[in-house]
Amino acid sequence: MKVISLVGARPQFVKEAVLHPLLKKQQIEEVLVHSGQHYDHDMNDVFFKFLSIDQPKYNLGVGSGSHAEMTGKIMIEFEKIALQEKPDWVMVYGDTDTTVAGAMVAAKLKLPVAHIEAGIRALPKKAPEEINRVMTDHISDLLLCPSQLAADNLCQENIREGVHFVGDVMYDLYLKMKRSFSTGMFDRLKLTENQFILVTLHRDYNVDNPDQLQAILEQLQKVNQTLPVVLPLHPRTKKNIESFGLKSLLENLTITQPLDYLNLMGILQHAKLVVTDSGGLQKEAYFASKRALLVMPDTGWRELTDIGWNKLVTADQLTAACTHSADTDYPPTMYGDGHAGEKIVELLAANGV
Ligand code: UD1
Repeated sequence: MKVISLVGARPQFVKEAVLHPLLKKQQIEEVLVHSGQHYDHDMNDVFFKFLSIDQPKYNLGVGSGSHAEMTGKIMIEFEKIALQEKPDWVMVYGDTDTTVAGAMVAAKLKLPVAHIEAGIRALPKKAPEEINRVMTDHISDLLLCPSQLAADNLCQENIREGVHFVGDVMYDLYLKMKRSFSTGMFDRLKLTENQFILVTLHRDYNVDNPDQLQAILEQLQKVNQTLPVVLPLHPRTKKNIESFGLKSLLENLTITQPLDYLNLMGILQHAKLVVTDSGGLQKEAYFASKRALLVMPDTGWRELTDIGWNKLVTADQLTAACTHSADTDYPPTMYGDGHAGEKIVELLAANGV
């Protein structure tokens, strides 16, 4: 049996790292294809290096562009590979432009599509990630859900066949790599245990709008007066801060390059709180028993906001929310038993041709 894994953006490398050894163990051939959506050293190479991921057999080298440019270029190039490789499954991950491009190519070639992280519904409906997720789910054959809520969402969207709650591969990876998390960055930045806030921002609604980006940075400046703010900067956020003339609002904050998985998880262990718009980090905060404030209009990981562990906030609420401590007990895991990857591989094998 042959599976094509199509990856392209940072969180997808992390998910593929879980499945790769498991596919190998089952003697399922995996052809790794990289769209090239993320290409900077800190967004790409470091993940392959630290998670011991094999180099992709193909790199489509699409780089950055508008959504249509990226999706279109990936589709054109990926179709050639899919035709040549004739896989039994095309596996796509998450909700990026790479995900939807791969799913559309495969479905139109009548190749079965397996979607890892299916059903993660989040508003606004017109957010690029939600558009990508909805499109992908509607044309996938195996819908591999990380949470029960995700499976229920699909049911409400009238997708009932091929839906499986398998658990979250990011939880699998967290448990597997826990011992290797690095304290390097925490030590280098001379931070104090539980005395800093870890912040990441990259969503279009936060960083492409100058007023919103300014409002968030002004709040972070206020927070930083009582608790140091550590902000690894996504390249998109960095470029926009420069072009909107907001660089002075980074003064006194602790700014780093984007962190690789082991360093990000390492520094997370010591943080007091997380402020983020990342789908992955809000869950990883929970895995690490840390709370996250989500500067997002909505989240796909509603299990955690419904019970009050994580909290959705507007930019204006940030300073107050950072100083207020909630008192919810740590909720038991809702993302499977750490064996989502094995379940996915079993389903691929059982449903293969
Ligand atoms: C993408 C995903 C998002 C995911 C995130 C993880 C889409 C629609 N969004 O968002 O779901 O959470 O990846 O990081 O696919 N850039 C660089 N170097 C890079 C990559 C990006 O400079 O290696 C800059 C470019 O200016 C680019 C911009 O960042 O235009 C945005 O990159 P893009 O891949 O479109 O989206 P992300 O914000 O990374």
